[in-house]
Amino acid sequence: MARSSRLSGFYRKSVDERRGQLREETFIGVKDDLVLESGGISTADADRFSENVLGVLSLPFSVAPNFLVNGRDVLVPMSIEEPSVVAAAANAARLVRQAGGFTAEADPSLMAAQVEVRGIDDVAAATAALMDQREAILEAAARGSPEIVKFGGGVRDLEVRDVTLHGGEHILVVHIIVDCADAMGANTVNSMAEAASELIASTAGGRAGLRILTNLADRRLARARCTVSLEVLGSYRGAGGADPARVRDGIIAAWELADADPYRAATNNKGIMNGVDALAVATGNDWRALEAGAHAFAARSGRYRSLSRWSEAGDGSLAGEIEMPAAVGIVGGMTTYHPVARLALEIASIEKASDLARLLASVGLAQNLAALLALSTEGIQRGHMRLHAKRT
Ligand code: MEV
Repeated sequence: MARSSRLSGFYRKSVDERRGQLREETFIGVKDDLVLESGGISTADADRFSENVLGVLSLPFSVAPNFLVNGRDVLVPMSIEEPSVVAAAANAARLVRQAGGFTAEADPSLMAAQVEVRGIDDVAAATAALMDQREAILEAAARGSPEIVKFGGGVRDLEVRDVTLHGGEHILVVHIIVDCADAMGANTVNSMAEAASELIASTAGGRAGLRILTNLADRRLARARCTVSLEVLGSYRGAGGADPARVRDGIIAAWELADADPYRAATNNKGIMNGVDALAVATGNDWRALEAGAHAFAARSGRYRSLSRWSEAGDGSLAGEIEMPAAVGIVGGMTTYHPVARLALEIASIEKASDLARLLASVGLAQNLAALLALSTEGIQRGHMRLHAKRT
């Protein structure tokens, strides 16, 4: 039987009752209680992951119910200390599921390793020489991390960019495009950049500088879309019975401000990242990489803008969409070693990095909907307090 993520009244239950319900619905197993109670890693484990360790720091580990993504019911694992974020995500997902849920897609796991080359006399000739040696350079890069091929990834392309420094000097930044399959891929692409840098520099007739991935993962985007009908908007308690078309227009106006004013966009996107980061942390992913990618992507037009967009659909309902880099993995690092991160992947039935990327975009859009709905109606303080009423 397909499991439903629509867990009505879940927030009113005790922690034990919630675990019991998830066990009954086979989202978690009997042994998982131990993992959840322990928080996952010991001080000895922590000592292997980082330096100068004194102990471990715990965070709440929650699930947001009600998510329907591409027709599949998903419980979203979220680890975050800020009150109301999980409740807001669940609430928005409940509104969205009434119109069929989120539709989401993710690009292949393409990352770019950057190799900087300085001291080139003729950048046009160097670019041509590099493109001529494309295959040899890609082979050299592949030798830096050959194991990725076993997992379905590997080097895919070479790109040469002419970058002008502040003093006017032109340098080349060579991108080695790598499919990282189910890994986030930082170690893989960094090793490849280092392995190919000597050949790149000698081919370009310059000297190699920095060799490192870019976190502006703009070939690894995830997108999500949703609609909310006027009827459902009208049922939102915080709107106090206002005309649903006005509620919709209020959300669109709130988005319009975020897209026009970088000061508002920063807060709008922070709200999106509340959900994205919480899911990233729960699954052991590098949320700083996601943050860096998201904000650089939001500024790609030359002005910092909203990652989301809200508009009126043909039938008058509210339509939302989001597009953002989603460089996340389900193998390697914490995702592999942290028992709670592994459990998080199981709870959400995430089997591929692209499943996680699609969920990230959906959660980001849900979080944005919840914030804009509260902000454009009753105000965030009351809206958050109402969602969080159980704890006050
Ligand atoms: C708070 O953590 C996030 C919000 O400020 C987002 C927003 O203003 O859109 C509520």
